[in-house]
Amino acid sequence: MQQNTATHPDTQFERASKQTTPKQRTVLIAGCGDVGSALGLLLLDQDHKVIGLRRNINQLPQGIQGISADLSQIDQLKSTLADILYCDTLVYCAAATNHSEQGYTEAYINGLKNVLTALPYPPKHIFFTSSTGVYHQSDHDWVDEESECKPSRFSGQIMLQAENIVQQGTIPSTVVRFSGIYGPGRNHLINKVKQGDVAAKEPLKYTNRIHRDDCAGVLCHLINKQFNQAQLEQCYLASDDTPASMFDVTHWLAGQLNSMTTTETISRITGSKRCSNQRLKDSGYSFKYPSYQEGYKELLKTE
Ligand SMILES: NC(=O)c1ccc[n+]([C@@H]2O[C@H](COP(=O)([O-])OP(=O)(O)OC[C@H]3O[C@@H](n4cnc5c(N)ncnc54)[C@H](OP(=O)(O)O)[C@@H]3O)[C@@H](O)[C@H]2O)c1
Repeated sequence: MQQNTATHPDTQFERASKQTTPKQRTVLIAGCGDVGSALGLLLLDQDHKVIGLRRNINQLPQGIQGISADLSQIDQLKSTLADILYCDTLVYCAAATNHSEQGYTEAYINGLKNVLTALPYPPKHIFFTSSTGVYHQSDHDWVDEESECKPSRFSGQIMLQAENIVQQGTIPSTVVRFSGIYGPGRNHLINKVKQGDVAAKEPLKYTNRIHRDDCAGVLCHLINKQFNQAQLEQCYLASDDTPASMFDVTHWLAGQLNSMTTTETISRITGSKRCSNQRLKDSGYSFKYPSYQEGYKELLKTE
């Protein structure tokens, strides 16, 4: 990959430093959507400077400095990012707009390469948000960061390629593999259950999830460790404490919603695994929502 390895000249670095207070760091969030914006707000609370890059910046929360750019347009990116001068940390958390091989390649491989090429100076560290879709396991067993990854679907294969690009580059990096993200505004499952649609008991398929606020919390926790020069692992699996079958989750939700169950749907989820978050917890992270029950109870308060 053509990664930008230029070192920042002192004069240039001073110009960048003058815009920040002594302990303030600059974090560029490329693909600053749901998780990126929640992360940005946590970093702003800690007085860091946050730059959010996406095509449509009018949805960014106040305080995040918006950069309107398309990650697939290298020339546009180069001219837009030339003004940044320097960022300490790059968080790459763009998501594919199209669920196709081309859409995934654009978002996770080309966009990543483009932003690294376009930045005038390399960041000190890259965080790349990946997915537990890189695992192929279907034996209900536990998986962790050391487990084999042989994804059969293009989505997992492309994500794994993107992980390799980040990890084989010259810039120190950390991959964070999220399981299924749920949270405010992601009401697909709640709406299905409200319509009476729940999952069948058989065949057993474990599912794994993480609340959006914990995604942001995990990234913020790891970024702070990087700021404090603590040793980071190359990869963390970010999922809550409670893998559960879709049968259990949907029936529990139906109970909470007092909804009649009318349809039992056979899960189309491929694979069945339980994701271990032990490495993340050993690093000192405490989940705000350790289980789907806690997370969904909070969401249902606003229903
Ligand atoms: N959803 C899940 O359950 C799940 C599970 C595991 C991992 N993940 C990963 O977690 C990360 C964060 O997800 P999220 O929920 O925060 O996604 P999201 O809300 O969809 O945010 C992604 C952002 O990427 C931006 N983006 C997409 N294409 C772009 C382009 N060509 N140029 C510039 N910006 C672009 C979009 O903004 P614009 O449209 O304004 O450009 C969007 O705001 C992603 O990497 C995702 O793949 C998600």
